[in-house]
Amino acid sequence: MYLQRRNRVLRQSPAIRAMVAETQLKPADFIVPLFIDEGEQVQQEISSMPGYFRRSLDLTVAEVQELWSLGIKSVLLFVKSKDELKDNTGKESWNPDGLMQRSIKAIKAAIPGIVLMTDVALDPYSSYGHDGIVENGEIVNDPTVEALVKMSLSHAAAGADFVAPSDMMDGRIGAIREALEQNNHTRTGIMAYSAKYASCFYGPFRDALDSAPGFGDKKTYQMDYSNRIEAIKEALSDVEEGADIVMVKPALAYLDIIREVKDAVDVPVSAYNISGEYAMIKAAAKMGWLDEDKAILETLVSMKRAGADLIATYFAKDAAKML
Ligand code: PBG
Repeated sequence: MYLQRRNRVLRQSPAIRAMVAETQLKPADFIVPLFIDEGEQVQQEISSMPGYFRRSLDLTVAEVQELWSLGIKSVLLFVKSKDELKDNTGKESWNPDGLMQRSIKAIKAAIPGIVLMTDVALDPYSSYGHDGIVENGEIVNDPTVEALVKMSLSHAAAGADFVAPSDMMDGRIGAIREALEQNNHTRTGIMAYSAKYASCFYGPFRDALDSAPGFGDKKTYQMDYSNRIEAIKEALSDVEEGADIVMVKPALAYLDIIREVKDAVDVPVSAYNISGEYAMIKAAAKMGWLDEDKAILETLVSMKRAGADLIATYFAKDAAKML
């Protein structure tokens, strides 16, 4: 048989494959979500996220130290708020002495180089478990944006490098940017959860923070998974309002959206490899149905190949060790 080109030539050895690999993961691609709880020496495994923990601040600092030593550059903080601090305004979220604000300061003091990102949304602080203020059974946009602005300012004042609004209210990126400017927080970045879909795959995360919505669902603010053009619209408006990084979330069932957003914007794109995606691989691996390490690397590479410059992932530490 005569063939002008044999495509298998470039696949014939590990060395050749390594030479022509188009996509490479590195520890600096990862953003590590961390769940922080009150107390000391507390480390509690999240039941629906085996191998992942909610930790008190002291142990979180030690964890960030280890992540940093593995070459990971960034963490994304979430806190579990006590029930008695939750209300409909979410005012604990901008308490200068709140768990989030104390965590930002402690981590920054211990590991000054780390790029510290913070989740900005009301759900962990809301007695309704929603990402916004509730009036007559409705999640109201503009009063929620005012709360998100206060929350972002308090994170910036505590030393956060990036605030990451995950709430999907309209106009919040512009409002946060303006407030940061007015308050001289000119080095604080915004990573906008721009295309965040209403997804069943957030379930394990809501176990981790005890933040499931008390009524209804999040479909009046998070996006309908039938839609793609809307994702571009959201990303473009967030960029115009001043987002430094835009995010697509979830990642695995939304690789097409990651690619389309990447092609549409001129800022870095991140993808959130969310809790349910973590749980699926963990569960299948536990049953002996998938090779966990291979599944981790294959899915993370798929996200980067789709166009993600950065990946928020619970697998970051495992992956960094494998790379
Ligand atoms: C809340 C928030 C959620 C996640 C990140 N921020 C859950 C939700 O919107 O209900 C999900 C992360 C994950 O599932 O890993 N604003």
